[in-house]
Amino acid sequence: AAAELGPYRHYMQKEIFEQPRAVGDTLQDIESITPELFGDAAYKIFKDIDNVLVLACGTSYYAGLTARYWIESVARIPVNVEIASEYRYRDSVPNPRTLVVTISQSGETADTLAALKHARSLGMEQTLTICNVATSAMVRECKLAYITRAGVEIGVASTKAFTTQLTALFLLTLALAQVKGQINDEQEAEHLKALRHLPVAIGAVLALEPQIMDWADRFASKENALFLGRGMHYPIALEGALKLKEISYIHAEAYPAGELKHGPLALVTEHMPVVTIAPRDELLEKLKSNMQEVHARGGELYVFADADTRIGSSEGIHVIRMPEHYGKLSPILHTIPLQLLAYHTACARGTDVDKPRNLAKSVTVE
Ligand code: G6P
Repeated sequence: AAAELGPYRHYMQKEIFEQPRAVGDTLQDIESITPELFGDAAYKIFKDIDNVLVLACGTSYYAGLTARYWIESVARIPVNVEIASEYRYRDSVPNPRTLVVTISQSGETADTLAALKHARSLGMEQTLTICNVATSAMVRECKLAYITRAGVEIGVASTKAFTTQLTALFLLTLALAQVKGQINDEQEAEHLKALRHLPVAIGAVLALEPQIMDWADRFASKENALFLGRGMHYPIALEGALKLKEISYIHAEAYPAGELKHGPLALVTEHMPVVTIAPRDELLEKLKSNMQEVHARGGELYVFADADTRIGSSEGIHVIRMPEHYGKLSPILHTIPLQLLAYHTACARGTDVDKPRNLAKSVTVE
């Protein structure tokens, strides 16, 4: 096992650093978007559906939440995202013109498989999976599939599986947008160019590791943390909080920053680190006023700003600047430093990073 780990201390760290390769492999050498990337029947299915229902658990669910922003804004198709274990036991109102999308690293998660069968039993026959295991039950059960090429993921806390899921979901967004006539060739080429730049862009973000390790030393002595994001970065805040709690056992919660004043602000004191994802987007000014609310209560802000965000470090405000501004792919790039923060915080606390207590890699029972 030591040989396989190479220069890394844990599989999780190795898998974080494999992401440029994993994302590159997941993109294959795609030169143009076609629905057939998802299967031979995809064109007809995409043409006929009028909404998307995403079903997943855990980190895969957060990939689905992120994809909702992309699919609704680029392909203009309404999207619902549901936790599989809730959906399967809920009385819902089915629409036969739904594209049911399951997202699963393993392809064997019992609740996600059961939710898929439940959707089918309600008359929703058009099914697609984003899955990392080509031979899994999930791929067999769905009409359409896109296989992510993360490779085997050993760390219980999902890293490269998540970013490759997001990559595949962005491809799905573009394929749906194309079939629905929502993007032209020029826009498609722009998006593809941005996708192909991902491996290099992820590499540059990984180089921020030393700065993140400094933050991790401070986080190691905390028992609570808040993660804030807005818009398509809110699911990334959720994923960042999940990573931290899974492996460092620090209680972490994520909020869409606009909800702060409706409760969590009461928790903010000088003991509460507040991690904020702050790329330059249409919500940045609103986010800055949310940050001001935290600062005024003595909370320590740890801000991931992108190249275009004008926020500087000052008393109580720590800033790590991302190398570029990433547009629609920004959620993928902002995931990386949050993985590293959780990883190094857990290392500083001496927990069993690759096998956190009470958790399993693949949950094949209810
Ligand atoms: C477990 C794993 C998570 C994963 C979730 C869903 O909880 O520890 O990392 O996100 O299951 O698994 P799946 O294989 O369906 O993506």
